[in-house]
Amino acid sequence: MRLVNGFLIFVLSASSTALPMRTRIRTVNSNSNTAARILDKEIDTLADIFGIDKSAEYQTTTDLPNTISKRNTIDSLQEPDILECNGHAELCNRKFSNVSMVVAHNSPFVRPHNAASNQYLPVLSQLNDGIRGLTFQTHTKPKTSDIHLCHTSCNILDVGTLESYLTTVVSWLKTHPNEVISIMMVNSNHIHPTAFIAPFTNSGMLPYVYTPSPNATTLDAWPTLDHMIRFNQRVVVTLDDGADEQKVPWLLYEFAYQWQTPFSPTDPAFPCTQDRPMDEPLHISQDKMYMLNHNLNAEVKLFGQQILLPAIPLLDQTNAAQGNGSLGESVKACTEMWGRPPKWLLVDFYNRGDFEGSVFRVAAEANGVEYEKGSCCGKEEGKGAAEGYAEGVMDRVESMDGWIEGLIQDTRKILEQG
Ligand SMILES: *[C@@H]1O[C@H](CO)[C@@H](O)[C@H](O)[C@H]1NC(C)=O
Ligand SMILES: *[C@@H]1O[C@H](CO)[C@@H](O)[C@H](O)[C@H]1NC(C)=O
Ligand SMILES: *[C@@H]1O[C@H](CO)[C@@H](O)[C@H](O)[C@H]1NC(C)=O
Repeated sequence: MRLVNGFLIFVLSASSTALPMRTRIRTVNSNSNTAARILDKEIDTLADIFGIDKSAEYQTTTDLPNTISKRNTIDSLQEPDILECNGHAELCNRKFSNVSMVVAHNSPFVRPHNAASNQYLPVLSQLNDGIRGLTFQTHTKPKTSDIHLCHTSCNILDVGTLESYLTTVVSWLKTHPNEVISIMMVNSNHIHPTAFIAPFTNSGMLPYVYTPSPNATTLDAWPTLDHMIRFNQRVVVTLDDGADEQKVPWLLYEFAYQWQTPFSPTDPAFPCTQDRPMDEPLHISQDKMYMLNHNLNAEVKLFGQQILLPAIPLLDQTNAAQGNGSLGESVKACTEMWGRPPKWLLVDFYNRGDFEGSVFRVAAEANGVEYEKGSCCGKEEGKGAAEGYAEGVMDRVESMDGWIEGLIQDTRKILEQG
């Protein structure tokens, strides 16, 4: 599916085409009363689509659920002589390409009451809970040379610099020496690959980054987790566009190493077919890692535009270990079709499901290891300075009401700036 001109196309990761929207908003703004009326009408439409009780309309939920159990223990440094890899001794001798991992779609986008969010819990919670893949968009921003993490546009959601986010991730890597992760970035503004060197260096991330041999893209070419841990090269970094491995050998071109099922899917059947890159010969795809995009979206009409929003009301089903439309069922279907489970299981709002942690149960099953129920999902206790931007994330959008509230706030802001 292709979307243009959408207001808040926040689920589009390859969304460099997404911006003529301000023009559109300005037209609406030519009479602000009209704008307000249109806004209300669109919100009504949304409420109808999702079957929301309008008597409870636009209220922000204040009862933060205590059901989100806090972690009982803070992970401590592993004994160096007990080699567990990503939580399991059985995984140590498996190649990186042979271990299924759960990916937080748009990991940094966790602002409460912002409709452009895709996760409820910040990156440290994500990592503590078992997320091993992080995706997000990178943007340029006027008047600064820093790369920022924004969703669709820095006017809608800007969570700060890439460097600051990476610094947070590095703080976690330091205290979790037996963990291998991946960072998959979307190059929304065609940033030159060499511009990524500074944030990766300044954050302290560079020493952890794994650099494969040139053109080593096949399943077999990947090292084992044990190897990556011993050499402390535990982070695989990819860019979806504009990578140049001759200039920056560790910044890998994403689609040379993996293919993906349809992106921003609206079909709850989640087909396992290859979508990106297009037209890749089957024998090449069969020998590469693949990502299952299992974030369900609803297509709605807003301001006369078709836009995609995460299907929040269906999250518990979408992220479930079993049942119709669930992650568990999708993984089974894809395993059947491709002869092995997806390497990456990409989800929105990972801590939701048929129980907290159901997405990790699915990955454990794909890997043939035990899932320890009850270890998910929580919030990192000691709030380090690096977690600054994620402050207050527990104060999150819990319901559709809150979500719509966020949408209204964002829209008003844009109308005001109009
Ligand atoms: C790992 O490799 C084994 C042996 O080829 C295969 O059965 C299994 O499905 C693979 N698992 C993943 C997650 O790739
Ligand atoms: C890697 O692949 C590229 C493109 O196919 C090719 O130009 C280059 O020579 C290859 N490099 C090596 C070291 O094989
Ligand atoms: C599963 O969900 C799909 C799409 O929502 C629906 O068409 C189908 O009837 C459902 N199947 C079952 C067995 O509930």
